[in-house]
Formats: sequence, structure tokens, C-alpha cells
Amino acid sequence: MSAKIRQARFHVEMHDAMERINDATHFDKRLYAEDIEASQAHCRMLVARNIISRQDGESIIKGLTQIREEIDKGDFTFDSKLEDVHMNIEHRLHELIGDAAGRLHTARSRNDQVATDFRLYIRRGIETIEMQLKELQNALVDAGEQHAATIMPGFTHLQPAQPVTFGHHLLAYVEMFERDRIRFANARENLNESPLGACALAGTSFPIDPEQTAADLGFRKPCGNSIDAVSDRDFALESLAAASISAMHLSRLAEEIVLWSSALVGFVRLSDAYSTGSSIMPQKRNPDAAELVRAKAGRIAGDFVSLLMVMKALPLSYSKDMQEDKEPLFDALESLGLGIAAMRGMVGDMTPDPEAMRAASAAGFSTATDLADWLVREHALPFREAHRIVGELVGIAEARGTGLEELSLQEFQKVDARIDESALKILSVEDSVASRTSPGGTSPGNVAAAIARWRKHLRA
Ligand code: ARG
Repeated sequence: MSAKIRQARFHVEMHDAMERINDATHFDKRLYAEDIEASQAHCRMLVARNIISRQDGESIIKGLTQIREEIDKGDFTFDSKLEDVHMNIEHRLHELIGDAAGRLHTARSRNDQVATDFRLYIRRGIETIEMQLKELQNALVDAGEQHAATIMPGFTHLQPAQPVTFGHHLLAYVEMFERDRIRFANARENLNESPLGACALAGTSFPIDPEQTAADLGFRKPCGNSIDAVSDRDFALESLAAASISAMHLSRLAEEIVLWSSALVGFVRLSDAYSTGSSIMPQKRNPDAAELVRAKAGRIAGDFVSLLMVMKALPLSYSKDMQEDKEPLFDALESLGLGIAAMRGMVGDMTPDPEAMRAASAAGFSTATDLADWLVREHALPFREAHRIVGELVGIAEARGTGLEELSLQEFQKVDARIDESALKILSVEDSVASRTSPGGTSPGNVAAAIARWRKHLRA
């Protein structure tokens, strides 16, 4: 077909390097289902507007359906000499139905065609990601429910800060993945306009009905400007940005799983199904899946930047640079989908060790703030003053190599006489987390309520 396009105009064959750099077939063949779907919608519109005959329309639709079946079954040979998926399909259509095939491209260009295919592909792709994210959220809610009251150290700067509940920590990710889903839904909403009818860039003189093709393909409406319709790939960038952010969230959870499952920490044990061994060290259990999820974040952000750099400074409207829009997007959706699936599996399979978490949660004077809060609450001290007093006590305990709760009442009272027995009771990590009942706080009761809210929301 490209030979055919060239025939009338060019007199020398394409150079081999030209052919190779021009070829998109090896990657854009992934768009075949969307390409056929959009071509059939375009064809129905051409018939409805009497631009082509009903008879030609019928044989085009039938031929395209057959091509889809051939490709589905693996019975189709893509030819890189034909440049891209669009020309491959058109070429095959010509073999199947003859000259009527040549009428399909009336009032259309590959520019509005590829923009349409790509939007359809991304729409589908992000719908799958949204579903997967929801499944991951459900897995986190399940684990969070089991561990609503399991106490673990909460960190800032990766230093023990205050005890928290493991359920609360897991639900933090549920919030993040919720916003990721919203970002994808917004990207979906923004991309859901149909470029068909823009043709090469200027529209067409044929009496087309872009509303019909838009509705037929499930788009909200046709794009409002033919130049914009074929020029922009912001919809792909938005999806890549959403994917990058979501991958970053996954990567943070992956990093925590790597830490938690390290023998040095021992908060969780990953199942055999998500661990690998070492080729030399027989004792090893490596969290490879978590590490790979962590790495995917870099790769996906690279995909985003890659397309952003392709698009920057391109003059309107279409330039062939834009053929390079597809691989980053394919790679990002595939990598993210895999990352979410692996993460969901790890979260569902991992076995937390509540004893180890509980023991670690008391380290590092993690309830010091509770004592300062007690002084403020019971004796109306300014918080800064309470902070100073408890700091002094921590210094004494630290010098002795003990926890705060191991100091005697006399030692407490030597620093501040107002401290009494009741103050010492609040130093346990259980009391600490139970007291964190402020909205969004870590208390087991709050976690249980949040779980119930998430269950309801995720069922809807
Ligand atoms: N394979 C091309 C792409 O992906 C299709 C559009 C070609 N348009 C053109 N004017 N050469 O961008």
C-alpha cells in the first residue's frame, strides 16, 4: 500500500534505513482492534451520509470483521513495508474485497485515525488499571482489617517516631490508590472526545457526521477543533502522569515491604510464591517482586518524560515524531498493570509478625510525646515546657540504656514533681495508639471505622 501511495509521486524506492525508521508496525499492531472498531464506525457514518454506497459499506464492514478474526487467531502476517497497522489492515481489506476497500479512507486521514485509535486504546487500558487498583485497595483493606489493632512503630526520617497500628499504615496506601483511581478517571474523562472527522488537519468538504462516529465509539463528543484533534497527545501524557504517580505510590509500598521482610526487621514474611532464592546462598529469601515493583516506578516515569520530550516544541499540527507516542504508553500501562498485580499478590500473601512489630514499636522512646501531652492535659503546661521536661527524662533513660517506662517514679519526680503514677500508665504503646482518636488518627477504633467506610465505598 505504501508502495501504492508512492507509485504516482516518487521515482526511487525508499532507502532501507528510511524504511526501518519509518516502520511502526512492530509496535502499533497492538492497536488493531481499535483501528478496526474505529474504521467500522467511520464506514457506518459514510453510508448513513450517502458518501459511500450501502453495498460498499457492507463489504467493508464484513471484510474488517474478517481481518479482526484473522489477527485474533494469529493468522495475519503484518508487513513492515506497509509502515503501520493502518496500512496493513487497509492492504488486507483490498485483498479481501477489492476496490471498495479504497473508499474507506474517504473523509479520513491517518492523522485523525491514529488519534482515535490511540484514545480508544488508552481508554480501555486505564479502565483496566482502575479495576486493578480497586482490587489492590480491597487486598489492603482485608489486611488492614486483620491488623486494625496490631501495633507497629510509626516512622519519620525512618526513625521510630510514635506507635501506630499496622491497619492504619496500610489504609494510608488505600487513600493514595483512591486518588490514583481518580486521576485515571479524570484522564479518561479528558480524553473522551473523538478526533474522527478532523481528517489530515483541516476537516473535510464531505458532509460527514462526527457526532455519529463519536457516539458510536462511546466518546462524549467530537473534538471541537480539527487542528487540535490531530496535534495533541496531552491525553496520553495525562495517563502517563497518572501512571507515574501511581507507580511512585506502589514503589513506596514496595520499598517498605523490602524493609519489613528483611531479616534485620522481620515485620512480615513474604509467601514462597513471592520470594526468590539465591543461586549461591541457600538460606536466602529475596523480595524480588517488591524490588521490581520499586524499579518500575523509574521506568514508568521515564516513559512519561520520553513522550513529554517528543511533544515539546512540535509545531501544529501532526508531525511524524508523534508516531513515537505509542511505545512509552504501551510500556507504562503494561509495567503498571504488572506492578499492581504483583503488589496485590504480595499484600494478600504476606504474613505480618505482630510480636516483632509490637516489640519494635516500644523502642526509641516512642511514647515520649504521650507523656508530654499528659503534662499539658493534666497540669496545663505549655507544650514547649512539657517537651523540655520529657526531653530531660529521655536523656536520663538513654544514658542508662533503658526505656522511659523503666525509670522509677522518684526519678520522674526529680525532674518534675507533678508526674505521678497515673502518668506512668500512659507510657505503653497500647495506650498510646488507643488515645489517638482524633479524626484520621491511628486508634484501632478509627481503623475499624475507616475499614467499614472503605468497604462500602469500594463495593459501590
Ligand atoms: N503511523 C502513524 C503514527 O502513528 C500514523 C499517522 C501517519 N500520518 C502521517 N501524516 N504520516 O503517527
